[in-house]
Amino acid sequence: MKKNYFNYLLLVLVFMMGIMVSCTKEGPAGPAGANGTNGTNGTDGKDGVDGNVSCLVCHTAVNMDGIATTFDGTKHASGTSFAYAGTRDGCAYCHSSEGFINFTRTGVSMAPATVTPLECVTCHSNHTSLEDGISAPMRPVVNPVPSIAFPGTVYEHGVGNLCATCHQARRASTYYDKYTEPQTFSRTFTGDDIAMYQAHGAVGPDGSMELIGDTLFVTFDVPTTYVYTSSSHAGPHHGPQANIFAADIGTMAGTPFDRDHHTDCASCHVATELAGAGHGFVPDVAKCNECHGDAYDMGAEQVEIAARLHAVGEALEAIGAIHIAEDGVHPMYASLERAKWNAFWNYMCLLEDKSDGLHNFGYAKQLLTAAESALGI
Ligand code: HEC
Ligand code: HEC
Ligand code: HEC
Ligand code: HEC
Ligand code: HEC
Ligand code: HEC
Repeated sequence: MKKNYFNYLLLVLVFMMGIMVSCTKEGPAGPAGANGTNGTNGTDGKDGVDGNVSCLVCHTAVNMDGIATTFDGTKHASGTSFAYAGTRDGCAYCHSSEGFINFTRTGVSMAPATVTPLECVTCHSNHTSLEDGISAPMRPVVNPVPSIAFPGTVYEHGVGNLCATCHQARRASTYYDKYTEPQTFSRTFTGDDIAMYQAHGAVGPDGSMELIGDTLFVTFDVPTTYVYTSSSHAGPHHGPQANIFAADIGTMAGTPFDRDHHTDCASCHVATELAGAGHGFVPDVAKCNECHGDAYDMGAEQVEIAARLHAVGEALEAIGAIHIAEDGVHPMYASLERAKWNAFWNYMCLLEDKSDGLHNFGYAKQLLTAAESALGI
């Protein structure tokens, strides 16, 4: 009986469990709850190169043509020196595109068969990469530039080393001031030169002039305390800008102009935000004034240097060192006391630099002060 009772109990239990299971069965779905807050964003992926768009920052017809138009207006493209000097050995590497490209590859100056003035490919090479941050591809003239006038020294102007390769002196004063023994030199002059040399030719202490027919015979006497100007093109050559920065080209050395952001020729002369991307090579003075402004009036400083240079020029003309004509300054054949000849040389350096001293105000003043004292100004 006891066993039956247990079985009965088990049966009741199983029955009750069945009821419980049926009681937990799900009812109909309630209304949807409010949305939760958004999860945090994932981190951005790396930007890809913008296909054609980044190329077109530069390579639109409008942009490239605009640069070409600006560039064509400069003497790099239209100057007359290229036709004349571009074909000559020793001149061609600064005066023709082919000569320059060859020089940057081989280090040798040669006279090319065909001659073109500077063009885009003279300074621009091919892209080395088309990855992120593409910049204008420059010809690889990035190493410091060997000095022509002072072999063994170099000039450092960043991207401007491209410019300094050409824009430097070809000769130092010692090319002329080199004799340890007294010398005499004879030359003849004709045409307009006769009146010019008769008026103020500098023939040296025992020099002489004699007019025979339509020819002036001149003997220049050059004792060792004098220096002889042996060419009507005497001087450092037309673009000694890198030398003025280095303060090495005058008859006395000075302090180099060496100021961080101010020594790369291109950073001042290629203002890429201007029309034509700065390919007129004219410094953007408005940009300079953002920093300099009234605090330092560079223009006034240039005007002062220009005036002093002008006065020295007039004094040099009076002693027969130069002739000032409408088309510019022409050195005269001359035997001059060394201090006066040095004044002539230093004047030519500052004149040919064409910045009215700005490329090195300190050095310009040093050379002018010495010239003024030699000439009694
Ligand atoms: C910051 C300006 C700039 C950007 C950006 C640029 N380039 Fe150039 N690229 C130049 C300059 C400058 C030259 C040389 C111009 C010349 O020789 O006419 C040049 C030359 C070239 C040349 C040779 C053209 C020729 O006539 O020999 C090719 C091809 C070229 N780029 C392709 C590209 C491509 C593709 C891109 C984009 C992935 C690009 N460039 C982005 C400036 C740029
Ligand atoms: C291949 C040699 C060469 C290179 C490189 C060169 N120049 Fe010149 N530059 C010349 C010559 C030559 C002239 C004068 C041409 C003439 O008058 O016939 C000149 C003239 C100039 C002028 C006067 C321009 C004018 O239109 O009056 C400026 C400014 C100048 N260069 C700046 C630069 C700058 C800045 C660079 C570098 C970005 C540079 N040059 C690179 C050879 C060069
Ligand atoms: C180291 C480079 C270099 C060499 C080599 C060179 N020149 Fe120049 N020449 C220049 C530069 C740079 C200018 C332009 C300077 C400027 O405008 O500031 C220039 C300007 C000239 C000018 C124009 C002057 C003017 O104002 O109209 C003539 C002409 C000239 N050179 C002739 C020659 C001759 C001839 C030779 C060879 C005997 C020669 N050059 C060798 C760099 C050079
Ligand atoms: C005398 C050298 C010289 C010549 C010639 C020259 N360039 Fe340039 N170009 C430069 C220099 C320097 C820069 C500036 C490079 C820098 O700052 O990295 C530049 C920059 C550029 C840029 C980039 C401008 C920017 O906004 O960043 C373009 C595009 C360009 N040049 C196109 C040309 C074209 C087209 C020609 C021919 C019509 C040309 N260049 C001729 C020297 C030159
Ligand atoms: C600090 C900025 C600066 C730097 C760096 C600089 N220049 Fe100049 N450069 C000038 C200014 C400003 C002038 C004068 C322009 C004027 O008065 O019209 C000038 C004048 C010139 C001229 C005469 C231009 C003409 O009208 O005939 C030439 C050529 C020249 N610079 C070449 C160079 C070369 C090459 C370098 C590098 C060795 C260089 N410059 C570095 C600012 C600079
Ligand atoms: C970002 C500001 C800034 C810009 C832009 C700037 N300069 Fe300067 N410059 C200076 C400062 C600062 C000094 C003096 C301190 C130093 O660098 O040694 C100076 C010094 C100079 C000097 C030397 C003065 C002397 O004899 O002591 C000259 C020249 C000069 N700048 C010319 C220029 C020209 C030209 C430009 C435009 C093409 C220019 N600067 C653009 C800040 C600037």
